[in-house]
Amino acid sequence: MLGSMIELVQLRDTEWLRLRAIRLRALLDSPDAFGSTFEEAEARSTEGWTRQLSELPTFVAVCQGADVGMVRCARDAASERTAWLISMWVAPEARRRRIGAALIDAAIGWARAHGMDRLQLDVADDNAPAIALYARKGFEPTGERGTLPPPRDQVVEHRRVLMLGP
Ligand SMILES: CC(C)(COP(=O)(O)OP(=O)(O)OC[C@H]1O[C@@H](n2cnc3c(N)ncnc32)[C@H](O)[C@@H]1OP(=O)(O)O)[C@@H](O)C(=O)NCCC(=O)NCCS
Repeated sequence: MLGSMIELVQLRDTEWLRLRAIRLRALLDSPDAFGSTFEEAEARSTEGWTRQLSELPTFVAVCQGADVGMVRCARDAASERTAWLISMWVAPEARRRRIGAALIDAAIGWARAHGMDRLQLDVADDNAPAIALYARKGFEPTGERGTLPPPRDQVVEHRRVLMLGP
């Protein structure tokens, strides 16, 4: 169970400053866990953040008024039944309190509500905490592999998928 002190909310399209703050914190904390870099995100315009909020449903975990975790969903370009789980991050001081698991549940809820039956993600092969979380939630490797974009192409990733039942 998620502690009663933690609340999950979906950011509204106007809340770009809130998205910017937690996303920059995530990128500083875990640079090799994400495709974007801190520098790219720091340079993003207001319009860029606002567009992301309208295109990527964004869920944030709030603890005593502070944003301590986030996840985003994305639609697959090729398949309308497939959603992506991206940008998963929980602040170091809030880890191992089932916040990551609750954020996954929020992404599952969004994907189901939009008629999708696959939720997939990419995770670095050496990211043991994230792999443990995804495996615990039922995401299975698809066999597809890749890397982060250069110059971080030494980070090897694999894809995992969760089939969403009715
Ligand atoms: C991966 C991450 C999101 C996990 O968030 P979290 O809130 O700590 O995870 P939870 O508390 O919900 O963990 C749920 C389960 O996942 C597994 N798990 C999570 N972190 C783990 C760890 N460090 N070691 C082993 N198992 C772990 C456990 O099974 C855990 O259940 P348990 O606590 O009952 O044993 C967090 O460590 C993080 O933000 N890491 C940096 C960013 C990152 O790697 N993002 C993923 C990009 S693909």
